[in-house]
Amino acid sequence: MIGFLELACSIRRRLDGNGEIVRRRTSTNDVAKIVSKDLKRQAGGAKLADEEFISLESVMAEFRLSNNTLKRMMHHMSDDMDRGLEGGLSKSTIAMLPSFVPEMPDGSERGKFVAMDLGGTNLRVMIMEIEPGEEMRCKQFNTRMPNWAQHGTGQQLFDFIAKALADFLIEKGVDQDGLPVGFTFSYPCDQTSLRSATLLRWTKGVTATGCVGRDVVQMLEEAIKRDGRINVEIMALINDTVGTMVAAAYQNKGQQCDVGVIIGTGTNASYMEHTKNIHYGVAKATEPYPYKQMIIDTEWGGFGDRGEADYIFTEYDRIIDRRSDHPGVNSLDKLIAGMCMGELVRLVLEKLTRHKVLFDGMGSETLFTIGTFPTKYISEILHDDCGSYQHTRQIMGELGIDDYTFSDMLLFREVCVVVSRRAANLAAASIACVLNRVKRPKMIIGIDGSTYKYHPFFEHWVNEKIRELVDPGLDFKIVQTGDGSGRGAALITAIIWRLKKRKQIEEQNALNRRLSIENEEREKKERKSEEKEAIGEEREENRWFDDKVDVIAAIGQAVVDDPVIVAAHEVEEVQGNEEREVENVNGSREESKEKEEEEEENSSPNRKAKLDPEPLIQQIPYPKTLKNENGVHNRSNNSTSASSLSESDHENDGSAINIE
Ligand code: GLC
Repeated sequence: MIGFLELACSIRRRLDGNGEIVRRRTSTNDVAKIVSKDLKRQAGGAKLADEEFISLESVMAEFRLSNNTLKRMMHHMSDDMDRGLEGGLSKSTIAMLPSFVPEMPDGSERGKFVAMDLGGTNLRVMIMEIEPGEEMRCKQFNTRMPNWAQHGTGQQLFDFIAKALADFLIEKGVDQDGLPVGFTFSYPCDQTSLRSATLLRWTKGVTATGCVGRDVVQMLEEAIKRDGRINVEIMALINDTVGTMVAAAYQNKGQQCDVGVIIGTGTNASYMEHTKNIHYGVAKATEPYPYKQMIIDTEWGGFGDRGEADYIFTEYDRIIDRRSDHPGVNSLDKLIAGMCMGELVRLVLEKLTRHKVLFDGMGSETLFTIGTFPTKYISEILHDDCGSYQHTRQIMGELGIDDYTFSDMLLFREVCVVVSRRAANLAAASIACVLNRVKRPKMIIGIDGSTYKYHPFFEHWVNEKIRELVDPGLDFKIVQTGDGSGRGAALITAIIWRLKKRKQIEEQNALNRRLSIENEEREKKERKSEEKEAIGEEREENRWFDDKVDVIAAIGQAVVDDPVIVAAHEVEEVQGNEEREVENVNGSREESKEKEEEEEENSSPNRKAKLDPEPLIQQIPYPKTLKNENGVHNRSNNSTSASSLSESDHENDGSAINIE
């Protein structure tokens, strides 16, 4: 194509006033003249090198990136992403910012929410109604951000936002409903929770003062308070890529979305990361984050800010960066996104014109003026049906170029193709880099953004290039996502609402569990103290019993020692001898019975209890006469444990009475 265009370029078909085609050849002499003239000239403000020789091919070659170069870039990007997860912006140009969004929609979301979207040049306020299984209903108000709001003070900017929000809610009669608000704020923010986010820097041309380093949610709340007309609750601040990811999953009927991408005024991507890998984000969290995953806002637009991608930049990119509102930051943004793509094309056109490769060196003042070639021109030119050149002619007119040839139109178009194709290739490499990290089977990529949507070939190019770059075996599907920033913000607010409710239920359950455990503990304690009391009573009884035993023992001894009784006993002994034989017979019977009982008792479970040194009764030296048949006091059978004590209180009483 380029060869053909070069030929077309050198054989200039000039349309004269009568519509005749005039053939003219650019001679070597012409080229020499061009070069010497250009040495004194500036192309897009940059001084040309002395030896520079410009041809269409040499200019276009600068924009062509081989797959090897793209893979090299992917490798560097992935390293930067690791560093970002580790230490955020201070360690990496890809900041990998936490979003604190832990999950995707599950289809059960419902309710009425306000979504606000501030990201490019527009501000949108939406009232969204979500019902499971139904199309989301949306009423919205869209306004262009005036210059004074974008480039004035932070207070002016946030007052403008608050006023737009209040006006719309009042108009719709929901200003006092306390509706939950999700705020899509598409600039790099260091979040420490869902609703606290410090602005790291402005991108995409906004320069409002006094905002960097401040909490965006707080600034909005203060502005709403200053306005004083509405009652709302800011639930979450999200990046547009996070919204896109969530909206893509919802649009896909609950299917997972693995990567959310924006290619619009700026470019960026989000994906779901394991919480254990998010060191920086989680360390800075102001609230506990109990979830296993979190959507990460990569902020890949910053890639190249520290010179790590210099091999990609052309002289045109450097000019763009130098002249931008934010020189030195968001380098990849400037290479890929719509913010700079039009200006990039204009710079190339200017250079080619100044070198007489285009328009025979006769451009127009408008063409040579910064910012006169909006990115939408690229889409429009490339939308021209083959051979019609309708949009191209119109744009030539708008640029004040009325003297051009057919080959000029071809070259014009070709510049648009080459510059935007490089952007698509860089976007594809960035997406492939994320896919290679996510590594799930059949990954879904949700993409939104004007540059991607309105360019007739962008989607095709991105798709094609990802296939060439992604690791073998990985499969993916691109889903164009409509209004990720609006629907996504509403959905995330709904998810947060759902999680909040789930948390409340979980907290209630936990409280109930704790109360029931506390009750159990209390009951246990009460039981224990009752048991202790019972043991105390038992001990009392035992002491009472022991006293009695002592008294009885003393009485027994006195009886044994009484001389009168001894004499009487001796008299009785004589009579007794006569009966002894009979007693002996009975005695031996009883003895063997005693033995049997003793054996039985020794083998019974109470044996251990009996041998236990604790039972009080066993320790008492019973007088012979008071021991039972086994020589062991009856009562000791029931005196081993607290529970047996309390259970057998009455038995013990009975036994004690028996002994008496
Ligand atoms: C810029 C912003 C980023 C946003 C992207 C797309 O790169 O820094 O936060 O997501 O543009 O709008």
